Amino acid sequence: MSSYSIVFFFILFASSFGQIDIAKYFKICNRTVQDVNECLVEAIQEGIIAMSGGIKELGAPPVDPYHQEEIRVEYKNNQIMATMTMKDIYVEGLKLAKVHNARLRADEDYFHLEVDITTPRVFVRGKYIGEGRYNSLRINAKGEFNTTMTDLVYTWKIDGIPEKKNNTTYMRIKSFYMRPDLGNLKAYISNDNIDSKSIIDFANNFANQNWRPLYREMLPYAQENWNKIGIRIANKIFLKVPYDQLFPEEM
Ligand SMILES: *[C@@H]1O[C@H](CO)[C@@H](O)[C@H](O)[C@H]1NC(C)=O
Ligand SMILES: *[C@@H]1O[C@H](CO)[C@@H](O)[C@H](O)[C@H]1NC(C)=O
Ligand SMILES: *[C@@H]1O[C@H](CO)[C@@H](O)[C@H](O)[C@H]1NC(C)=O
Ligand SMILES: *[C@@H]1O[C@H](CO)[C@@H](O)[C@H](O)[C@H]1NC(C)=O
Repeated sequence: MSSYSIVFFFILFASSFGQIDIAKYFKICNRTVQDVNECLVEAIQEGIIAMSGGIKELGAPPVDPYHQEEIRVEYKNNQIMATMTMKDIYVEGLKLAKVHNARLRADEDYFHLEVDITTPRVFVRGKYIGEGRYNSLRINAKGEFNTTMTDLVYTWKIDGIPEKKNNTTYMRIKSFYMRPDLGNLKAYISNDNIDSKSIIDFANNFANQNWRPLYREMLPYAQENWNKIGIRIANKIFLKVPYDQLFPEEM
């Protein structure tokens, strides 16, 4: 091979390597056509299925089950102070999500997408270590937990701003918001610590009978976590595929 052909080979190889054919994974919707929202319902539905096993080429992790190493929550109100560290968490069920509606408002310097979704069942399991104080009472507990949520109804609200890299515009996702309404929630905590058995048994019963107000109080903590995860996963796509390829403008 002459040195010219070697250079040519490298240029070819490098350029084909850099380009990701996103249409392999989901339908591409033209941003400026009238039925873009209808198209997006299908594209996002396909995208959720494609993402459920992860997309290696994009470095996107599997989302069903989604695995999270650790979440730490600190909770405080007048009488209660608690810290809980959850580890090795698995979230199952997003694969069966159904996309109902999508609303895109986007142009060259602004991206806002809302997606209405329902999911029949989400199951979360993991290990935990908890420490709490209730007035003068101290509690230590550890074990496993799981939570089953059914009939979830939620809207993803995704916001992004453009970012230029080498003359190419990408849309960086800055915010990922959702606030799921639940049909039902059932939670179980096991406890390896004999000393706190009765209080954890009580907490199990109490939590399951009063899950609605407890869920409302825990939501801000969960939302902060979802926001981080949603941004990270969305940007696996948005920062790797140029905006004009992801949402082409019709010529
Ligand atoms: C960006 O585009 C300008 C004008 O088209 C060009 O002169 C410049 O070399 C480009 N820069 C890069 C990093 O591609
Ligand atoms: C972008 O440009 C910089 C410097 O011009 C270069 O080092 C980098 O490899 C380029 N990245 C891509 C993806 O082309
Ligand atoms: C949920 O956790 C409880 C308590 O540890 C356990 O008895 C139950 O089998 C778990 N359920 C599932 C489906 O893993
Ligand atoms: C988007 O626009 C391009 C160029 O006009 C066209 O070839 C393509 O079929 C359109 N795609 C969709 C999904 O409408």
